[in-house]
Amino acid sequence: MSEVIWGLATSHVPSIGAAMDRGLTGDPLWAPLFDGYGPARDWLARNTPDVAILIYNDHANGVDLDIVPTFAIGTADRYRVADEGFGRRPVPDVDGAPEFSFHILESLMDEGFDLTVFQDLDVDHGFTVPLSVWTPDPGDAWPCPVIPIMVNVIHYPQPTAARCHALGKALGRAIAGFDGARTVGILGTGGMSHQLAGARAGFINPTFDHMFLEAIEKDPEKLAAMSREDYIRQAGSEGIELIMWLVMRGAMNEQVRKVHTVYHVPASNTAAGLALFDNRAARTA
Ligand code: DHB
Ligand code: FE
Repeated sequence: MSEVIWGLATSHVPSIGAAMDRGLTGDPLWAPLFDGYGPARDWLARNTPDVAILIYNDHANGVDLDIVPTFAIGTADRYRVADEGFGRRPVPDVDGAPEFSFHILESLMDEGFDLTVFQDLDVDHGFTVPLSVWTPDPGDAWPCPVIPIMVNVIHYPQPTAARCHALGKALGRAIAGFDGARTVGILGTGGMSHQLAGARAGFINPTFDHMFLEAIEKDPEKLAAMSREDYIRQAGSEGIELIMWLVMRGAMNEQVRKVHTVYHVPASNTAAGLALFDNRAARTA
């Protein structure tokens, strides 16, 4: 029996990682965002889980664009940091938890989620930036092993928000049925509103983002009911990354306690958000 103790949703904008790697977090452009992260980071440092599960998307760095699994899981005992063209980020490779991965894989397969399996995987900014948002100074190793779950948000047709939410619910049951870890942290990544190319490049929708931040806590079903076209129309062509927050939310209890949120525009040309939830709503951490 393992328990999800927290859920952390965060944007994965590559320049957030670059700002940290280059010592620019105190720069006037960046300070408001990194100051905002402070309370979440402090809380997370006091609540390190045995294992984390990180829902993310690859951006054609770890996996070629000619193979785009809808849902996938890593079963490796270690994941290398990808070289995205500027050399590898100076952060540690990631320890996995293969036994737990296999348990989740079997459990999800039995529930009708036919995941692709990565026995070998390099992880890009979609993965390493959320780890850096959580743990700014990891030293030689991240605080715990991390299991990657990958979602296609870059090629049409992406899975529906409802399917992502259902995957999260099945993931929550898989976690509860595993005996090998006591506590689990779950990360949903990507977003918030942004569009990187095309006629609407630079598109940001704070009204939508604030609605989303509120609803991910209190009414995820409303977000699960939106079509992929709704996401792209309202959050931008890359804002559809937000469907990955619903996998995280689905794995959590119906009632969660909000610990901290951050919303900042711009990071790169992206709206950056963070939402941290305690899954032990009735208790205090
Ligand atoms: C950028 C890249 C991303 O993958 C993302 O989600 C947001 C921003 C960027 O290159 O700026
Ligand atoms: Fe992205």
